[in-house]
Amino acid sequence: MGQFTGLHGIDRDRLLALIAASRALRTEAEARPRTDRLHGKAIGLLFFEPSTRTRFSFEMACHRLGADPLAFNAASSSSVKGESLTDTARVLKAVGADALVVRHKEVGAADLVAEVVGLPVVNAGDGTGEHPTQALLDLVTMSDHVGGFEGLTVGIVGDIRHSRVARSNAYGLRALGARVLLAGPPSLQDATLLQAGCEQRQTLAEVAPEADVLMMLRIQRERIAGAAVPSVADYRARWGLTERAAAQLQDHVIVMHPGPMNRGVEIDDEVADGPRSVIYGQMVNGVYARMAVLLDVLGVEAPEAVAG
Ligand code: CP
Repeated sequence: MGQFTGLHGIDRDRLLALIAASRALRTEAEARPRTDRLHGKAIGLLFFEPSTRTRFSFEMACHRLGADPLAFNAASSSSVKGESLTDTARVLKAVGADALVVRHKEVGAADLVAEVVGLPVVNAGDGTGEHPTQALLDLVTMSDHVGGFEGLTVGIVGDIRHSRVARSNAYGLRALGARVLLAGPPSLQDATLLQAGCEQRQTLAEVAPEADVLMMLRIQRERIAGAAVPSVADYRARWGLTERAAAQLQDHVIVMHPGPMNRGVEIDDEVADGPRSVIYGQMVNGVYARMAVLLDVLGVEAPEAVAG
């Protein structure tokens, strides 16, 4: 029984295999959009926090693999009557779930469910902790556009401190030999990622000339308690990927964003929808990355990677 709750300490070969499996599933889907690899399996989708991309891509991943998604709506569930996360997870197991996907505001929620319930568990975002399937789809997207990860420089700019996306990407990229430059307002930086081998910069202007990939992040206002946040004008001037800032980038640089975007703050419309943007591709890859992870945790083989 496998778990996929974080990329901290992930084995490089497992990560490369998941990237290859995601790409192989995407190639296979061109001819065969649906298979029955997970026929008869039920996947509990326990989303206790809002989501658009992650939730729908897990649902689509289930359908494409022939599994039954057990969708959970926190607002209309017994959690509003005080039922705990772990008791809710036990209910899903009792009614027949074979694996659980968990999004929750508490760091460590997915690990807790895995420990208590004894099913394969996938972390779909735990507070400011990790978002490993987002990082996997980001790595798949990067691999579509860059030669390899060794020697690649990825700039991650924005609210690093509250970003589970930044954390999972940093761990994954470092495991694959990439260089990671972080920049954001002083109150939103995260020194713990420097221990993982990331490098701290202050502003977008310090990151941009060195980066092959620029990943822009929103300020996670829902998680900020008391941290000083710059005004929108100040933020745009120092950390915003404006049309003018994007015009200074090297030709080969790609722009990523996990979403949801705050257009006009960390990224301008012209950049988000422009030729450097691979943001839509990230969303497409989300389905295949999540298919690869569901197969992995349930111990079912993915299709063979095609060379090239
Ligand atoms: N990137 C991401 O996790 O988006 P959602 O919150 O819409 O799932």
